[in-house]
Amino acid sequence: MILADPQFGIAAFLLEKHKGRTTPNHIGESVAPPGTPESGWPYEAERLDRAITVVNELKPDFVIVLGDMVMHWDNEQQRADLLAAFKQVPSSIPVYWVPGNHDVGFDFFSATDETLASYRKSFGDDRYSFTVGPSRFIAFNSVLFDRPDSAPGEYEAQMSWLKQELAKPLAPGVHHTVAFAHHPLFLRDIDEKDGPFNLPRPGRIEMVELLAAHGVKYLFTGHTHANILGRHGDLKVVATSAIGVSRHGHASGYRLVKVTPDAVSHSFHTLP
Ligand SMILES: [Fe+2]
Repeated sequence: MILADPQFGIAAFLLEKHKGRTTPNHIGESVAPPGTPESGWPYEAERLDRAITVVNELKPDFVIVLGDMVMHWDNEQQRADLLAAFKQVPSSIPVYWVPGNHDVGFDFFSATDETLASYRKSFGDDRYSFTVGPSRFIAFNSVLFDRPDSAPGEYEAQMSWLKQELAKPLAPGVHHTVAFAHHPLFLRDIDEKDGPFNLPRPGRIEMVELLAAHGVKYLFTGHTHANILGRHGDLKVVATSAIGVSRHGHASGYRLVKVTPDAVSHSFHTLP
């Protein structure tokens, strides 16, 4: 089960940023969700609670949160409240985390040694792989692709890890690899212009080619706060709408991914 962008703190931030705005801006951000107070994150917390209720009803094999757990990486209360909410999930359902640009970007874009250390202390590794049933899952830190120079050595270290990991033969009974990251590598077209919701072209193309060369057919992401499906050859990039505040009129919700030895399928569900 995929959750994206619970982003505790975003509603109050948007309320301040768009003070006086009465129509959505070019990226579909509106003034703020109605009824949001100017401090705290009750709007996001209530939505996350609804998602966690679904987790506990459905009992998926695991939950992965695809980044932007919080709005501000250095706001300890946002992080503490987010982690406290997930304490409602029993330990029989593993919860995995993927770093978003708000979790490790000191300026919402750039990871640094300090932001990465802080993230790793709270959430664990920012890149890892694991196997469940017929699938190997690989999660990586896409923020490093956006500003590779801001945390010296991290981008290169991750690329060599990804190359080694993807090159490992699949264990018996494991039939495919599914990838997770925060940013979509691209939204619609591998050659589209760089923008706030995809990744810069050189790293994007290298990563698409690396995933494709190892037969990865799905990359699931967050970041867009909207459901967007992109495709390049056999690789599908599937971005999931946000738990916290969605954009472009998309509903908040979660995505279920089903894997069998032969196929991967997925479906988006709005929050109850
Ligand atoms: Fe986000």
